[in-house]
Amino acid sequence: MTQLRIGMIGYKFMGKAHSNAYRSLPMFFPKALQPQMSVICGRNAEALANAANQLGWSESVTDWKELIARDDIDLIDINAPSNAHKEIALAAVKAGKHIFCEKPLALTLADSREMLQAAEDAGVAHMVGFNYRFSPAVRLAKKLVESGRLGKIYHFRAWFLQDWILDPEFPLVWRLQKEVAGSGSHGDLGAHLIDLAHFLVGDMKEVIGMSETFIKERPLAAEMTGLSAKGSKDGPRGEVTVDDATLFLARFATGAMGSFEATRFAAGHRSTNSFEINGSLGSVKFDFERMNELEVYLTSDEEDVQGFRRVLATDPVHEYAEAWWPPGHTIGFEHTFIHEMLELSTAIAEGRQPEPNFHDGVKCQAVLEAVERSVDERRWVSLAEM
Ligand SMILES: NC(=O)c1ccc[n+]([C@@H]2O[C@H](COP(=O)([O-])OP(=O)(O)OC[C@H]3O[C@@H](n4cnc5c(N)ncnc54)[C@H](O)[C@@H]3O)[C@@H](O)[C@H]2O)c1
Repeated sequence: MTQLRIGMIGYKFMGKAHSNAYRSLPMFFPKALQPQMSVICGRNAEALANAANQLGWSESVTDWKELIARDDIDLIDINAPSNAHKEIALAAVKAGKHIFCEKPLALTLADSREMLQAAEDAGVAHMVGFNYRFSPAVRLAKKLVESGRLGKIYHFRAWFLQDWILDPEFPLVWRLQKEVAGSGSHGDLGAHLIDLAHFLVGDMKEVIGMSETFIKERPLAAEMTGLSAKGSKDGPRGEVTVDDATLFLARFATGAMGSFEATRFAAGHRSTNSFEINGSLGSVKFDFERMNELEVYLTSDEEDVQGFRRVLATDPVHEYAEAWWPPGHTIGFEHTFIHEMLELSTAIAEGRQPEPNFHDGVKCQAVLEAVERSVDERRWVSLAEM
């Protein structure tokens, strides 16, 4: 295989991020198996044709089944809302296509397990879109944990705060409908934190959570894309069926303690995605708004200069940084997707599973659902129950 022929479904927020990644890969990672932007799929023919042109796809089709039936496509990339993931993924792997699916993998744990099983049975490569793993500063945090430089890990503390639905008149977009999104801030934002926790600290043993929907009804949305929408204040309204905020505590298998907060009601926080890890020999702090940096504290420093130091993860010693600019020249959100697609194409070329893959998607879904059960039943829920 010399090229990976991509068929991509969905062309708005994530569709654009993925298209940019496929376009940039050859320029910055020329040795990788190169993606060919073959066919893009969406439902509205006119908007789709414009998107194909703007994003750089060779062809477009309005029916994803037609896309999957083609024998000149190697990989299906799913960027549709979460309720569409399962049906498309099952059909794609049955047709022998490799698969990339945005997070959360599915609406339920049972569905995500079915997707994993089908992909494994088909023997295809499967990947899930936890892109924050691909920030060089997160890779540095991982290196410090794995090498033992932070010692025994006691705490993982994470929060993902947004405020885009603070206005009670903001329309009822698909992200606020359980049958489309699965859950609200929990599955959208919390899912990323859970994956980072799994990546950096390991499996969780038990969880207990609390959840709230502050605004119970909103105007129906006339138009929507990503995190923006239009609707009329005086028009019909509908019920919000997901959480606006979900918080939970976790105990990790290692004995470490975790706390997680995901909300869309943190005024002033556009997209604050942060974590801290505290170990017996030091700590790290990460804030995605300053994604090029990791704050590091090591107890081994001389006592009179102990303190958090700001490490800029842009030097070639940091994973992925070498391909970019000279040290100190920073990268952004879009680069996480380029690194993600690099991992995907490299794994396919090497005949191994990319990471994170559907196993990670299922593990995340198990925690999401355990927290929901804990909220419903007002008790600690063991992951062994799931
Ligand atoms: N990794 C991340 O950081 C991240 C960020 C945002 C969204 N997401 C995930 O990506 C997915 C898409 O989110 P988004 O923000 O890009 O949504 P969006 O609303 O911006 O775009 C959704 C796209 O899917 C298309 N679509 C919907 N149903 C379809 C169907 N049946 N057939 C073909 N196309 C269909 C729409 O036309 C649109 O192009 C969701 O699962 C979401 O959770 C991940």
